[in-house]
Amino acid sequence: MRVIIVKNYEEMSKEGAKMVKELVIKKPNCVLGLATGSTPIGLYKELIRMHKEENLDFSQVITFNLDEYYGLSGDHPQSYRYFMDVNLFNEINIKKENTHVPDGKIPLDKIEEYCREYEEMIKKAGGIDLQILGIGGDGHIGFNEPGSSLSSRTRLVALDEQTIRDNSRFFEKIEDVPRFALTMGVGTILEAKEIILLANGVKKAEVVAKAIEGPVTSQITASALQLHPKVTVILDEEAASQLRRKEYYIFAHEAEKKINLKLF
Ligand code: F6R
Repeated sequence: MRVIIVKNYEEMSKEGAKMVKELVIKKPNCVLGLATGSTPIGLYKELIRMHKEENLDFSQVITFNLDEYYGLSGDHPQSYRYFMDVNLFNEINIKKENTHVPDGKIPLDKIEEYCREYEEMIKKAGGIDLQILGIGGDGHIGFNEPGSSLSSRTRLVALDEQTIRDNSRFFEKIEDVPRFALTMGVGTILEAKEIILLANGVKKAEVVAKAIEGPVTSQITASALQLHPKVTVILDEEAASQLRRKEYYIFAHEAEKKINLKLF
């Protein structure tokens, strides 16, 4: 696991965007796994800037989002489809038909089949080359709440009380937050060829330390990333503040810069 500690949110966003840019240049038809929430907004802003100012070309890029609230249609302002359109897709030259966000309006009796098809689509596209992740206050990745199997697949889940509380900031009132979501599973996420986990702010410090340095446990689903061979964690100083091996991560990152290689 590479752990990169930067000064602030802006640097975290730039560092993440740089990795996406390198991939899009190297493989113009790459498959990106995308997250929503507050964390990746700066990274998406930076990608938009790279598109507008440096002609970064997304015309062949394919994307799959991690999750969607169950019950919200894509034109609902709090839906993740809407979030992606507004915060990224409408601002770059990606083909809308190449962007995939789970459909929150699938009838209950079609969900199993739909989730299987979502996974099939990822496979047909060649698998996810680079997955971008945030981490929830309860340690979730995607909406894989504590207790999710570490080999779980795309499915319908019930949201944890803490997630509902955390995400109520985007809704008028807490009662409006959907109680269910469709999410890629931990097993699905671990199949990505490479993964970036972003976290910023002191509120994430404790859970980041548990995820990176604690035991691998279904109680903190982000800890499953320890099992993946190519994960880069990009943290601002606040989110890194409870790491025990901080000095080593800083040393290792300085060392890899000298040899111009990623050391996982
Ligand atoms: C969003 C997602 C979630 C968020 C996490 C952190 O698509 O899958 O796991 O990444 O809840 O959210 P923020 O960034 O709002 O703190």
